[in-house]
Amino acid sequence: MKYKNPSLSVQERVNDLLPRMTLEEKIAQCIQIYIPPDHPGEIVDRIRAVGLGSRILGAVSLAGNVSQRTAGIEDLNEIQRIAMNEFHLGIPVIHGLDVIHGLRVIFPIPLGLAATFDPDAIQKTYNIAAEECFRLGIHWSFAPMLDIAHDPRWGRIVEGFGEDPYLGAKMAVAAIKGFQGELDENGYQSQDHILACAKHYIGYGGAEGGRDYNTAEITDHTLRNIYLPPFRAAVQAGVGSVMSAFEDLNGEPASGSRYLLTDLLKEELGFNGFVISDWASVAELIHHRVAANEREAAQIAFDAGVDMEMVTECYAHHLADLVMEGIISMERLDDAVRRILTQKFQLGLFDHPYADVQKSLEIRDLSAYHAAAREVTARSMVLLKNNGILPLPGDVRRIALIGPFVNQRRALLGTWVNDVLADEPQTLEEALRASCPDVEILTAPNGLMDEMIMIAAEADIVLLALGESNARNGEYNSIASLNLPAGQEELAQAVAGMGKPLAVLVFAGRPVTLTRILPHADALLYAWHPGSMGAAAAVDILLGKVNPAGKLPVTFPRGEGQIPVHYNHKSTGRDHPRYLDMPVEPLFPFGFGLSYTRFEITDLVVEPVEIPAGASVNVSVTVTNTGECKGEEVVQCYLQDCVSRRTRPERELKGFQRIALQPGESRRVEFTIGPDEMSYYGAGGSWVLEPGAFKVWVGNDCKASLEGSFLLK
Ligand code: NOJ
Repeated sequence: MKYKNPSLSVQERVNDLLPRMTLEEKIAQCIQIYIPPDHPGEIVDRIRAVGLGSRILGAVSLAGNVSQRTAGIEDLNEIQRIAMNEFHLGIPVIHGLDVIHGLRVIFPIPLGLAATFDPDAIQKTYNIAAEECFRLGIHWSFAPMLDIAHDPRWGRIVEGFGEDPYLGAKMAVAAIKGFQGELDENGYQSQDHILACAKHYIGYGGAEGGRDYNTAEITDHTLRNIYLPPFRAAVQAGVGSVMSAFEDLNGEPASGSRYLLTDLLKEELGFNGFVISDWASVAELIHHRVAANEREAAQIAFDAGVDMEMVTECYAHHLADLVMEGIISMERLDDAVRRILTQKFQLGLFDHPYADVQKSLEIRDLSAYHAAAREVTARSMVLLKNNGILPLPGDVRRIALIGPFVNQRRALLGTWVNDVLADEPQTLEEALRASCPDVEILTAPNGLMDEMIMIAAEADIVLLALGESNARNGEYNSIASLNLPAGQEELAQAVAGMGKPLAVLVFAGRPVTLTRILPHADALLYAWHPGSMGAAAAVDILLGKVNPAGKLPVTFPRGEGQIPVHYNHKSTGRDHPRYLDMPVEPLFPFGFGLSYTRFEITDLVVEPVEIPAGASVNVSVTVTNTGECKGEEVVQCYLQDCVSRRTRPERELKGFQRIALQPGESRRVEFTIGPDEMSYYGAGGSWVLEPGAFKVWVGNDCKASLEGSFLLK
């Protein structure tokens, strides 16, 4: 059996195995099921008879807060043993789990990770997650989520990298490299890596009204230029799987669209991994009313390009008949199975099918992961206001630490965490006490608001920890009002009334409206839902051990009335569209974030100023730390195609670099703007590079005003 020989290439092994398989055995590879811990006999019999593509390790369809352990190593190994030894072909099962921002050590929510503007840190983060998964027998994570989102009401904004296609693409590549690592010359991944899944393809973030699962209407122009780039980058980075989305997009459910899955993803972009449906999204074609029954749902989804069905059994029940009747071709089935087997070989599953119980024990000491998490978490936090009260002065004697987030643990982790496996984080109070043992820390003994206000009166400085619950984010958790939960704005106002310096921390899974809190705060640190090391990282920033440098990966609106809101809006025929009762400018723009020091960006040079098609320009600036402490700045480069045949954004991020400078230090920072940055999807969806003038801006948020230009001949 050649396919069992690990010295052959992946392709040779797939070519050897595929012709040995019966129709039923091929179809079994296209199925992902949930297997309960007590494995009913019929599931085991089925694996013995025809094998199984995949097992999902989540017990509920609602993504977000997983409170039960779904399978331990012994259980995973037992099912694998049946697939390897009792099914005559010995094809391993691939185990998939939603590992969205860490497994045991929890990192910030992905939206927070995006705020680092630091792809290397993201790669390291997902590398750690992969290592943890691999050792526990999990081969595949349903991440990263690459949905662009313009609506913070949508609960799943938490899980993506924000509103910008360029930033989203960079983060996508970093996460995928972190999960999957590199392939060797025979096409194999190295051990300790797992399969990534780019989801939800595509347009899921465009849900009308920000209501999860809702219809999206996105023109092909916007789909390609705004929503597609992270997926395109993911495909180029070699992502092994893509998940088809739940929603109905432009009149076709995404999980039943041949245009999206086959024409665009597989043929045009050249994706050669496999497509998995979202949970039940094949059967849901019936709810969308494009399929009358399971058989039609199977036909539409499989024909569209969904290679593996998650949880529902339309494929299991109907694909065989559809192939035998010639409605689905054997060629299409072979293509799907080839894609799935390729990933299984690539992952090394045929050669190392079992989780190593011994190795899984070796990582009980998580200190190296904790250190990495503390660092990336501090990098994710965004300082939105500071009139000089932060960092806390060295001579502070009494701190009032108040607010609903002082003693939270679970909420700090955010949504999308496997509660049973995740670390228990420190509370903010514990972290602050541990870091400043000599300072008197006053807390409200019973957590009552009146106590908090009395304590505030006695302190030198007040730290007010506000936020929203993890349960208010994630799948099917959209909200209509972006305000912090009831009472928190009033608390901020009442505390501010005591006249003490007030630093506000906000722990949240989305942009919340800060319009009524901001005037009362002397400083405001946006901490997201920061994960296992969140409290420690926030304290590092409050004390000035870390100088904050995170930047907003999404625009922060003043109120819901500004939604949809994003910086890369287009030019209009008339003056910028306005409201009569609210400014159109958001509260905080994309890319915004302060530091404890100051950076000046000067001397923008574009070279050359005229280029032929296909050439690149070099954009450079001098960045100087003009403040008193060392710090990091995310230098951002924006581009405008001055005249184009299709309407284009007023400006678009096309480069960023996070650099560290000592006080007084200057550095030249360079960006290369090449044909890829200058091109866009134009008429008929073609990728075009149009001659003409371009403007560039470099600065420290999307409002950058230092300007240059060049001409593409
Ligand atoms: C539904 C979610 O939309 C998706 O993101 C997740 O990966 C699957 N459920 C599996 O849990």
